[in-house]
Amino acid sequence: MVQARKWVYAHEFEDQPQTSNLQLVTETIPDTLQDGEVLCEAVFLSVDPYMRLFKVAVGDVMQCEQVARVTASKSDSFPVGTMVLARLGWRWPHTIVVSDTSILEQLPPLGELPASLALGTVGMPGMTAYFGVEEILKPVQGETVLVNAAAGAVGSVVGQMAKIKGCKVIGYAGTKEKCDWLKSELGFDAVFNYKETKLEDSIKDAAPEGVDCYFDNVGGEFSSTVLFNMKQGGRIAVCGQIDQYRYDGKQQTGPLVYGQMLVKQLTMKGFMCRHYFQHWPEAKIQVIDWIKQGKIKYRETITEGFENMAEAFVGLFRGANTGKAIVKV
Ligand SMILES: NC(=O)c1ccc[n+]([C@@H]2O[C@H](COP(=O)([O-])OP(=O)(O)OC[C@H]3O[C@@H](n4cnc5c(N)ncnc54)[C@H](OP(=O)(O)O)[C@@H]3O)[C@@H](O)[C@H]2O)c1
Repeated sequence: MVQARKWVYAHEFEDQPQTSNLQLVTETIPDTLQDGEVLCEAVFLSVDPYMRLFKVAVGDVMQCEQVARVTASKSDSFPVGTMVLARLGWRWPHTIVVSDTSILEQLPPLGELPASLALGTVGMPGMTAYFGVEEILKPVQGETVLVNAAAGAVGSVVGQMAKIKGCKVIGYAGTKEKCDWLKSELGFDAVFNYKETKLEDSIKDAAPEGVDCYFDNVGGEFSSTVLFNMKQGGRIAVCGQIDQYRYDGKQQTGPLVYGQMLVKQLTMKGFMCRHYFQHWPEAKIQVIDWIKQGKIKYRETITEGFENMAEAFVGLFRGANTGKAIVKV
């Protein structure tokens, strides 16, 4: 038997996540493999906002994707040394897993790019941006696209994809440094620190004619305001509601937007990235190509050390990350 560590959901979240909601514990796993099994060792682990929204049961291991190295194998598909993308949870260093399940897959063809991108721009968040833009917003040249949490893993890709399509892009983020990055490096047309700007005024300033496409990562009052500033026939992709996760489904009140939906003939669609899962391989190849051409740039906020995983996670809810939040062990 060998000893490994895992983070469990120890105490129910109240409001925003705290590190005290989570607990690092030791687990014992077998040191011999059965046929078809592999031993994986995490290299990069992902922390994402959905871990607050889709909570595991108290006492269960926190869920996440890892980029892991196969360190022992009784599988022809995943020999020793293979780097894999795996849904193995907040576990390190060792996890035994059966290789022919959907929780283990080969990394996308990243070439010289860092393997950690498989958790971010060329992973689940990048695919969320890709399909939200391609399948829901479908922006065309000259249209105005607004995205919030714009300096995050999803939002930064959304804005750059909209620029590739010839749109005017308005982004909102929570610090000057993030706004500077979006404007000077990613080519956003207008950026605002939503903590220091009156939202309504900034939209009217940057998009006097209104917004054609709204990619919503935040929800709440932010979305209510944007809804009243959409153009005729505007489209809204409801991707995330990070401002609302702390309410745990309790009913919120707010402006009623149905009148705007009616008179402006708006279309609003919520979506989950996994709905498009079968098309991810081609989309990842496209995103890799854009990165190599310099059309999509990325940042990662890397937290060192498995013991700091809870801190990296709670940081998502106070804007600690620029680009994708990753834990490197
Ligand atoms: N539908 C899907 O399938 C799907 C898949 C992946 C992600 N999502 C959703 O997409 C959104 C973005 O996810 P991500 O992975 O890209 O996370 P992220 O943007 O990399 O990290 C979260 C960011 O959200 C901002 N934020 C936190 N609380 C906020 C609040 N109350 N109001 C405004 N901004 C706030 C913070 O940046 P600031 O400094 O700018 O505040 C923080 O850095 C989340 O809502 C997530 O749940 C949905």
